[in-house]
Amino acid sequence: MNSGTGGGGGGGAGAAEPSRSGSPGEDGFAPSALGTREHWDAVYERELQTFQEYGDTGEIWFGEESMDRLIRWMQNRKIPLDASVLDIGTGNGVFLVELAKFGFSNITGIDYSPSAIQLSGSIIEKEGLSNIKLKVEDFLNLSTKLSGFHICIDKGTFDAISLNPDNAIEKRKQYVKSLSGALNVKGFFLITSCNWTKEELLDEFSEGFELFEELPTPTFSFGGRSGNSVTALVFQKT
Ligand SMILES: C[S@@+](CC[C@H](N)C(=O)[O-])C[C@H]1O[C@@H](n2cnc3c(N)ncnc32)[C@H](O)[C@@H]1O
Repeated sequence: MNSGTGGGGGGGAGAAEPSRSGSPGEDGFAPSALGTREHWDAVYERELQTFQEYGDTGEIWFGEESMDRLIRWMQNRKIPLDASVLDIGTGNGVFLVELAKFGFSNITGIDYSPSAIQLSGSIIEKEGLSNIKLKVEDFLNLSTKLSGFHICIDKGTFDAISLNPDNAIEKRKQYVKSLSGALNVKGFFLITSCNWTKEELLDEFSEGFELFEELPTPTFSFGGRSGNSVTALVFQKT
């Protein structure tokens, strides 16, 4: 596990900090409301109301720097601006906005929470961006139409799924299957996690994916030990 979990949000999401304390399941995670759709529906209904009242876009998981890190990688790797990009569990869709502002023109955001997609749509509309596709979709039960992507991005969604109180191990396996179906061969999968270490993620995605690159994340020191509270990896589909 990553030391110092709770690197979750850039702020308020820390309240939804994942945990391996309590009554852990087989994989050592304590199931949490964070793994349920009811939780995310309630979060985004609240954020939608706040956006409508005050124009506040809400939580950016892992903060602004997590988005910069991913876009910098895409830029350094010269990913073409017309590459098809899927943001898995897009939440408020702010990362889609950043991608579009950078010039990416073929981007799709999915989330299983209708209120998240409604919030994303409102934010995208306010930004005056029109060419972003949004869909209410459960990644664990993905429509076959969502396939052929060059890039799939996950910021905090695999973490959330890992905390599902109902058979999270099976759900993680299904996640890997859905990812295989969505991504093109040689396509890239960029994952940012505060629940899983590099080694654990390598294990989770060992079938059909290989590590392409590890992205540097901030380190912390505590009690003479140092580590990262966030792991960011790029996998390539084999
Ligand atoms: C920790 S939040 C991250 C949101 C966003 N990626 C960000 O970086 O701000 C996890 C998101 O995953 C979504 N999610 C969880 N399980 C999902 C699933 N099975 N299918 C689609 N979306 C899911 C939640 O609704 C929520 O928006």
